[in-house]
Amino acid sequence: MPLNDFPALSVDSSRLPRHVAIVMDGNGRWARGHGLPRHEGHRRGKDSVRAVVEAARELGIPYLTLFAFSNENWHRPSTEVSFLMQLFHRYLITETKRLMKRDIRVVALGETDRLPPRVRQALAATVEATRDNRTMTVAIALSYGGRQDVVNAVKAIAQSVADGKLSPDEIDEQTVARELTTGGLPDPDLLIRTSGELRISNFFLFQLAYTELYFTDTLWPDFRERDFLAALAAYQLRERRFGAVSNGADHPLRAQN
Ligand code: IPE
Ligand code: IPE
Ligand code: MG
Repeated sequence: MPLNDFPALSVDSSRLPRHVAIVMDGNGRWARGHGLPRHEGHRRGKDSVRAVVEAARELGIPYLTLFAFSNENWHRPSTEVSFLMQLFHRYLITETKRLMKRDIRVVALGETDRLPPRVRQALAATVEATRDNRTMTVAIALSYGGRQDVVNAVKAIAQSVADGKLSPDEIDEQTVARELTTGGLPDPDLLIRTSGELRISNFFLFQLAYTELYFTDTLWPDFRERDFLAALAAYQLRERRFGAVSNGADHPLRAQN
């Protein structure tokens, strides 16, 4: 359904978030609610991904991050992990053409070297094929953990210091931000988490410092354009103060976004 068929949800296109991040949660509960095995929820979640990517692109949101698989998700039963890996593989193979047609660049976040070779290769191929696309960036967080991200950044910075390339005095927020897996992406302006859970679950820790948080009970497989627009409308009602006073103009964090 075209976006302008939802007149009730007024979204001001001049005040859109630059970067929206989504914790896509609730696939298992969606399946259980429909009397289906968990993997059917994951399968159906793919339609939500497509719908949200299209909606974000149509609106002109330049960055969208999708949290697809956490480091902790490796602890799920191996049959579920295998199914998810198969699903990611199939998504990458089948969606790349569509992403190219829409001029969407894909970047991968997380410890992707932990992925099975087939998935790693498909991901690398999609990233490579789409690298020059400019209309929008979709970041897929696969095997991502916020704490591990910080630890990896600390290791890289420590190595630079040990190599004599960097002095500890020179380390600032930008140094850390650059070494995170998200280095080069702006911080998210809006985080959406579906399925009613009110937690971060080891997603972006450093990056969410001043992100607006939006939680919805809608389960990920039910999440569509309408829900995305509702989140954007809620975001636009927020006043982002960045620690300053109302309408404070020049705060350094604001300038980043
Ligand atoms: C999100 O749905 C998908 C992944 C974490 C990979 P879940 O599988 O966590 O679904 P629930 O939370 O059990 O309903
Ligand atoms: C967070 O969801 C991870 C992703 C959506 C990829 P989980 O379902 O893994 O989080 P918890 O276990 O409810 O905290
Ligand atoms: Mg979950």
